[in-house]
Amino acid sequence: MISTKRLIFNAATFIPGVASLPPVQRVFKRHSLGTHGTDQARYCYSVWLRHLVSAAASGLDTNPRVVAELGPGDSIGIGIAAVITGAEKYMAFDVVAHANTPRNLSIFDGLVELFRAQSGIPDSSEYPRVGPTLATYEWPARILSAERMRAALDPARLAVIRDSISRTDSRASMIQYRAPWSTDGAVERGTLDLVFSQAVLEHVDGLADVYCAMYEWLKPGAYMSHQIDFKSHGSAREWNGHWAYSDFMWKLVRGKDVWLINREPYSTHVELMQQTGFRVVGEQLVQARSTLTRARLAPKFRAIPDSDLQTTDAFVQAVKPAV
Ligand SMILES: C[S@@+](CC[C@H](N)C(=O)[O-])C[C@H]1O[C@@H](n2cnc3c(N)ncnc32)[C@H](O)[C@@H]1O
Repeated sequence: MISTKRLIFNAATFIPGVASLPPVQRVFKRHSLGTHGTDQARYCYSVWLRHLVSAAASGLDTNPRVVAELGPGDSIGIGIAAVITGAEKYMAFDVVAHANTPRNLSIFDGLVELFRAQSGIPDSSEYPRVGPTLATYEWPARILSAERMRAALDPARLAVIRDSISRTDSRASMIQYRAPWSTDGAVERGTLDLVFSQAVLEHVDGLADVYCAMYEWLKPGAYMSHQIDFKSHGSAREWNGHWAYSDFMWKLVRGKDVWLINREPYSTHVELMQQTGFRVVGEQLVQARSTLTRARLAPKFRAIPDSDLQTTDAFVQAVKPAV
């Protein structure tokens, strides 16, 4: 639940001139920096392998060569895991530069150890709140065959990856990181095999534009893979209490932080994907009881489907149809 102190701070930032004061800017920076999750190699390893194993279950490409990620957070480790397992190019886009080279390198070292050991995928006993969940958390030997991993872990290849992590701002690097970013010209049209995100699309403002951008970036027949968290992120007492705030109240709760949550329920994401041209091929929903009655919903959410009111998290994989 958001504190009264935070509400008063947020309200004050709407007074002309207040938001640009240096101490207020420092508070914005503190709120927006740091995400926790990708600051651990085991988390990055678990998340990448969960997307990959789920792709296999949906009959999708499990050896994507050109990959992009939205909102990598504290490190670009999930993407580094993608590169270690065979991707030739990875581009990451964040609204704030949380990641840095020393942390990325240390995550890389941790990941190499995990892949060399063919460790099992860290499961819900270690990451109870991370999705998607899998039927089995064993090393995915069918996808990451001995032959594929021998080539992937070749010392000369690992040296190139390590070097690329040190120069992610170069357009020539196999690993690139842009923060902040904009959809315009971020990725060349029709060049990606995969675009993915983990706990990001609930934060993105301008969702329609971002879905259109992802559609343009992908090759025909390529896919996207997203885990989305619809919970209130501490903005309300109930897990879905953020849908009870009027637009005015939400403005005060959200304040002027660079990112918080966009409050869009799952049905909006599905609608946007379909409008853009995507075909959903894999879906895993996590549901919880809603203690919020429909009468308490803010007018803009009053007509959302019953399933939205109960959907706390969704994992979705969708394909750009081949022409
Ligand atoms: C909850 S964190 C998740 C970080 C990471 N993916 C993980 O699994 O730990 C949300 C991330 O989304 C980023 N974000 C918010 N709005 C964004 C946008 N419009 N484009 C790209 N990233 C965004 C935030 O800066 C942050 O890195």
